[in-house]
Amino acid sequence: MDELDRAVEILRAGGLVAFPTETVYGLGADASNPAALHRLYALKGRPGSHPVIVHLAGVEQLPLWASHVPAAAQQLAERFWPGPLTLVLPRRPEVLDQVTGGQDTVGLRVPGHPLALALLRRFGGGLAAPSANRFGHISPTRAEHVRAEFGDELPILDGGPCQVGLESTIVDCTGEVLRVLRPGAIQVEAAAGSSAVRAPGTLDRHYQPGKPAFRADPLPPLAPGDGVLTWRAPLEATVAVHLGSDPEAYARGLYAALRELDESACARILVETPPVGWEAVSDRIRRATTELRS
Ligand code: TXA
Ligand code: MG
Repeated sequence: MDELDRAVEILRAGGLVAFPTETVYGLGADASNPAALHRLYALKGRPGSHPVIVHLAGVEQLPLWASHVPAAAQQLAERFWPGPLTLVLPRRPEVLDQVTGGQDTVGLRVPGHPLALALLRRFGGGLAAPSANRFGHISPTRAEHVRAEFGDELPILDGGPCQVGLESTIVDCTGEVLRVLRPGAIQVEAAAGSSAVRAPGTLDRHYQPGKPAFRADPLPPLAPGDGVLTWRAPLEATVAVHLGSDPEAYARGLYAALRELDESACARILVETPPVGWEAVSDRIRRATTELRS
C-alpha cells in the first residue's frame, strides 16, 4: 500500500490528512462525514460558523455539490481549474451545515497540485480542507510548517513548497454580478462593493504571527532586536528577510518569511508595505500587521 492509499484509508475512516495544494497546505477531511468535520474543526480550533472549502477532483463534480451553476461560474471553472480559484455557489440540500457554516452556499475548488489531484481522484468524494494551521495563524506553505502547527501525529503528504503561496481567490457567484470575497493569484473582473455573503476568513485580524508585527513605508529607523521583511532592497537588521520586487516570488515566500521572523530572536516584526498593485499580498499583510504611522 502506498502513501496515497494509506491517506485515502484514513480519510474514509473519518480521519484527517494534511496535503499540499498549489496555494497552501490543506487539512483534509471527508466533506460528507459529520464526525470527520467535527475532528477538523476541533483540531484547528475554528469556530463552527466558519464555512470550509470543498476540494474536488474535477469540474464534472460541480453539480454534486452546487444546486445551480450560473454560466459565468461554469466559465471560470473551465478556464481556471485546476487552479487557485474558489467558487461560492448555491449548495445542494444534502451538503452538511458543518461545511457551509449554516449558509445556503458552498465554496468549491479543484486544486492544481498533482498530489492533491491524485488524492482527490483516489478518494472519489469531496475533501473539506481549510489551510492546515491553527485558527488565525499563518498558513503553511511547506510540510514542515504543518508539522510545526500540529506535531507528528497528523499524517502529512509532502509535496514540497507551494508554488503560489497565498490562499485561493474566492469569487461569490450567487448574485447578479460576480464578487471577489478574497483576493488571490487569479484576478477576476468583478463588481466593487461588499458582498452579502459572509466569508469569515476575511476577519480583519488573520494570518497572525505571534510577535507584534507592523507595516510601514518607509520603514522607521531600526532598533536593536527588530526583524524586517523588505521588497525594495535588503536591509541590515538583527533578522532580515528580503523577498524582492517580483510579486509572484514575493507571494510564494511571504508566509515562510513571516514564520521565520516569528521564530527568530527578533522582538518585533517590521514589514515594508508592499506596492499598491499587489492586491492579494497587500490584503494578507494588512491582516497580519498593524500600520505604523510616523
Ligand atoms: O487556497 C485555499 O483556498 C486553501 C487551500 C487549502 O485550498 N484553503 C483555504 O481554506 O484557504 P480556509 O478555510 O483557510 O479559508 C477558506 C475561506 C474562508 O475565508 C471561508 O470563510 C471562505 O473560504 N468560504 C468557504 N466557504 C464559503 C462560503 N460558502 N461562502 C463564503 N465564504 C466561504
Ligand atoms: Mg485559513
